[in-house]
Amino acid sequence: MAKILVTGGTGFIGSHTVVELHNAGHEVILVDNFANSSPKILDQLEVITGKKFEFEELDLCEEAKVKAFVAAHPEITGVIHFAAYKAVGESVQHPLKYYKNNFFSLINLLNAFDSKIDFVFSSSCTVYGQPDTLPVTESAAVKKAESPYGNTKQIAEEILTETCAVSPELFVTSLRYFNPVGAHESALIGELPIGVPQNLVPFITQSAIGKRGAITVHGADYNTPDGSAIRDYIHVVDLAKAHVAAIKRLESKAAASNYEVFNLGTGKGSSVLEVIQAFESSTGEKLNYAIGPRREGDVEQVYGDVTKSAEGLGWTAALDLSEMMRSAWNWEKYLKENPF
Ligand code: WQD
Repeated sequence: MAKILVTGGTGFIGSHTVVELHNAGHEVILVDNFANSSPKILDQLEVITGKKFEFEELDLCEEAKVKAFVAAHPEITGVIHFAAYKAVGESVQHPLKYYKNNFFSLINLLNAFDSKIDFVFSSSCTVYGQPDTLPVTESAAVKKAESPYGNTKQIAEEILTETCAVSPELFVTSLRYFNPVGAHESALIGELPIGVPQNLVPFITQSAIGKRGAITVHGADYNTPDGSAIRDYIHVVDLAKAHVAAIKRLESKAAASNYEVFNLGTGKGSSVLEVIQAFESSTGEKLNYAIGPRREGDVEQVYGDVTKSAEGLGWTAALDLSEMMRSAWNWEKYLKENPF
């Protein structure tokens, strides 16, 4: 039976993608080393889907173990590769940790499959930096990343492009995420930040639940309608569904070439102050926030042109900012009663 390997399958986006792959009828096998997730997510996935997923604890930096795992699972016909470190600030402090982990895991996987596999790669809009024109399309220039994290995404795309150029049986789809937020409607899985959240939405929900103090809006002097920075926030469930569409495109051999790139966003930009407003109006919770200085490395505004994804993947985001905020808040309330 054909099987899809999900690396980082107990992570934020990985776990939501496992649910949607299951809902679409795929057999799934997960690997994770729990560097940025909890084993409890496996139980949660079983409650949500009724299925106990095949799982192996595996550090993808261990080349021999990756080769042995892949050799033991010839039924794997596709890979969705989420497993990577992703904290922008931490990557600045520990660049070698990020370069080793994010490149060794990718290269070990490609070698173990002998570059003969359908491979969906978790990339990021961070590769665009501050785009010259908005909304940003997949053909926009990739700019020098602001952080080692962003650089690992850019270089990983180059590794994949160059490997595909000499590996006709390697089919890669790089998905450039904008800002994934929200949680599954069951509130049983969601984002599990380690330490103080660097990202806006988990900080908002932790502030609202009393785990953190006031929110600092990082800059209100940008050249935007309300002065705060603009991003393209996308519901993690919409993002998960796009991965199912990407696997389907690869399985049906519909890809125009063996290396393709798609933006995964809503095509709509929202400012920090608009996100705060959306959280308050959709949850009824009052937020405590103050304007502070800009954050080093932030771009002023970025949101995606998602025409190519609509045409190539037959996918568009369906859930709005209010549902993103409501689901994130429900997950935070669940965590308060059921700490991981
Ligand atoms: C969004 C906006 C902040 C916190 C990064 C990576 C991206 C992806 C998501 C991994 C910015 C502002 C934030 C706060 C604030 N990484 N903000 N107060 O930086 O757009 O994207 O994380 O998946 O690849 O680049 O996301 O949520 O950190 O920030 O005002 O307490 O919210 O300045 O304008 P970002 P973010």
